[in-house]
Amino acid sequence: MMVAAKKHYCCCEWKWIVFFQLLLATVVCSSHHGDPANDLVDIINKNRTSQKLPQLNDSPGLGCMALQYAELCKGNCTSNGVVNCKPPEDDFTEVFGPNCGVELPTFGTITGHIVGCQPKYLEPSPAFSHVLVKDSKALSILRNKSHTEVGVGLVGAHKSSFFWCILFSNGKTNSTFVLEDNGKGIKQKKGCFSGSTSPCSNGQRIPVFLNNVMALVLLHFSLLQHWYPTWFAMM
Ligand SMILES: *[C@@H]1O[C@H](CO)[C@@H](O)[C@H](O)[C@H]1NC(C)=O
Ligand SMILES: *[C@@H]1O[C@H](CO)[C@@H](O)[C@H](O)[C@H]1NC(C)=O
Ligand SMILES: *[C@@H]1O[C@H](CO)[C@@H](O)[C@H](O)[C@H]1NC(C)=O
Ligand SMILES: *[C@@H]1O[C@H](CO)[C@@H](O)[C@H](O)[C@H]1NC(C)=O
Repeated sequence: MMVAAKKHYCCCEWKWIVFFQLLLATVVCSSHHGDPANDLVDIINKNRTSQKLPQLNDSPGLGCMALQYAELCKGNCTSNGVVNCKPPEDDFTEVFGPNCGVELPTFGTITGHIVGCQPKYLEPSPAFSHVLVKDSKALSILRNKSHTEVGVGLVGAHKSSFFWCILFSNGKTNSTFVLEDNGKGIKQKKGCFSGSTSPCSNGQRIPVFLNNVMALVLLHFSLLQHWYPTWFAMM
C-alpha cells in the first residue's frame, strides 16, 4: 500500500515537471513572438495570401524608416485618431534613410504607405482592422500587386497617442534598403520596427516582458516549493 502511494506521487511529480517545462517553453516562445511590428507583418501577409497574392518580405530597412515616419508624425494625431501629417517626399532619402543607416545606393521605390493613429495602444490585430486597414482605400494599397517588401514601425507617445506606419516597396529582398553593418548601428530609443533584432522599447513590449519575468519567477518559486517543501515550511 505504502509503496503504491509513493509510486503514484512520483508519477504526479514527473507530470508536473513536464507541465512546467511546457509552460516555460510557451513563455519563452511567446516572448520572442511578442513584437507587435512583426505580428503586423504576419497579419498583412495572411491577408494577402488569403487573396492568393504573394507574401511580402520583411525588410528591416523599410521597418526602420517606418518607425522614423511614425516618430516624426506621432504628435500630429487628433483625439479621434485622424492623421494630420505630410512629411515631404525628400524626408525618406534625406532624413529617415540616413537615421537608419540605409545605404543610399540601395534605396528602392516606396510603392505605398498606410498610417494610422489612436489615443491608446491596441493589439496588432485590432490595430490592423480598426486603425490601419479600415477602409477600401487602405485595403487596395495592402493588396497592390506591385509590392514585394514591407516594413512596419510603431511608436507610442506617453499620454498622447500611438502611431503606426506601414511602408511597401517593390525592391529585391536583400539588395534594397540595405542597412549599414546589418543595422547594428541603429540606436533605437523608442518604439519598434519589424525585422529588427532589438526588442521594442517604451512601447507595449516592456510590460509583456515583465509579465514573462514574473511568470518565470513564480514558476521557479512553485517548483522549489514542490521540490523542497520542508525548506518552505521553515520559512
Ligand atoms: C504637424 O502639425 C503641425 C501643426 O498643424 C504642422 O505645422 C506640421 O507641418 C505637421 N507636421 C507634418 C510633418 O506634417
Ligand atoms: C499599385 O502601386 C503602384 C505603385 O505605387 C501604382 O502605380 C498602382 O497604381 C497601384 N495599383 C493599384 C491597383 O492601386
Ligand atoms: C483582410 O483585411 C480586411 C480589412 O481589415 C478585412 O475586412 C478582411 O476580413 C481581412 N481578410 C482576412 C482573410 O483576414
Ligand atoms: C537574404 O538574406 C538572408 C540573411 O542574410 C538569407 O537567409 C536569405 O536567404 C536571403 N534571401 C535572398 C532572397 O537572397
